[in-house]
Amino acid sequence: MHTAIFLIALLASFANAYPNPLPMKGDITSPQGGSPTLSCIAGGVGIPYYTSTDMVTWNSTGRVWPDGGASWTDEYSGGPNRKLWAPDCTVLDGVIHLFYCASTIGSQHSAIFYATSDTGGVGSWTNGGLVVSTNDGDDRNAIDPNFSIDPVHYLTFGSYWTGIYGVQLDPTTMMPRVNATTDHLAQRTNGALPAAQPAAEEAPVLFKYADWWYLFTSWNSDNEYYQTRVTRSSTYNSGYVDSNGTAALRNGGDVILTRHDSILGPGGEDTFVNTDDYKTGSPGSLAFHIGLNRMDMSSGWPVLVNTSTP
Ligand SMILES: *[C@@H]1O[C@H](CO)[C@@H](O)[C@H](O)[C@H]1NC(C)=O
Ligand SMILES: *[C@@H]1O[C@H](CO)[C@@H](O)[C@H](O)[C@H]1NC(C)=O
Ligand SMILES: *[C@@H]1O[C@H](CO)[C@@H](O)[C@H](O)[C@H]1NC(C)=O
Ligand SMILES: *[C@@H]1O[C@H](CO)[C@@H](O)[C@H](O)[C@H]1NC(C)=O
Repeated sequence: MHTAIFLIALLASFANAYPNPLPMKGDITSPQGGSPTLSCIAGGVGIPYYTSTDMVTWNSTGRVWPDGGASWTDEYSGGPNRKLWAPDCTVLDGVIHLFYCASTIGSQHSAIFYATSDTGGVGSWTNGGLVVSTNDGDDRNAIDPNFSIDPVHYLTFGSYWTGIYGVQLDPTTMMPRVNATTDHLAQRTNGALPAAQPAAEEAPVLFKYADWWYLFTSWNSDNEYYQTRVTRSSTYNSGYVDSNGTAALRNGGDVILTRHDSILGPGGEDTFVNTDDYKTGSPGSLAFHIGLNRMDMSSGWPVLVNTSTP
């Protein structure tokens, strides 16, 4: 089903090295659009969500947890009614499965939580509990969850400092399998922009297409240098390399989207249609926006293409 929205090769005309995002209208142009996922649910206080029938005009629909209704996250988010990050929403057998995280900038005291809803409507969400948590000094950070089901129920997450991790989930509880090992999928040590920042890599999206698992991640700090990179593997939980064969665990990653034109720091990606978390404006006066780009997968590597429609 996902494949139907990708362009076939040769339709693209390349006006820019990196195409501009498709236009999006409605409530979603508000500056609350960090770490989007399609539906569209975005990071923010209580997790705001938006709906659209045409993927151009987006209406605000409500919040998953209205008015401080996620008290179990307070310990990680710094108190009541703080922003919750990076929601990931998947519909399986008529149930909406939501993973999201709570942390504060610069902290490894972080947790990924799970919730379900049958309708997505206001008041319909049930807290499914804490899935993974980390503490200061751990070798990983429980942020930026991405849930996938092919070939197993699997949660990728992390991490800002030490890259990307994955753990198999029990399909009945959506909690890590008993004795599950945590796979280290990607890490970079080669510095970041701007200079003197940590070699940050975070926000995985694991995307199965044809014979490959693609691991999209966001590199650099969360500012105008934020960018989207990709590696791929023939197995889901190890062996990711970029197009040069450089391992994702050793600084590998092809850039598929980086700052261009008026678009600063397009990271925070999701695939399906690729929804990119853009910042526009001049450095120092950044505003978050969400943008859509199409991907051409025909070469076996994702390439963003110019189109004027979703
Ligand atoms: C958005 O909300 C407006 C006003 O409530 C409504 O007229 C419109 O149909 C909605 N659009 C979508 C795409 O849901
Ligand atoms: C988990 O590990 C413990 C200790 O090695 C073992 O006793 C137990 O059987 C394991 N459980 C499962 C479900 O693998
Ligand atoms: C996570 O991965 C799934 C399956 O690959 C994808 O469909 C989904 O959009 C992703 N969500 C986020 C928020 O990354
Ligand atoms: C692949 O190698 C070429 C030649 O050394 C280099 O220019 C390019 O940046 C590399 N690509 C990646 C993704 O590292």
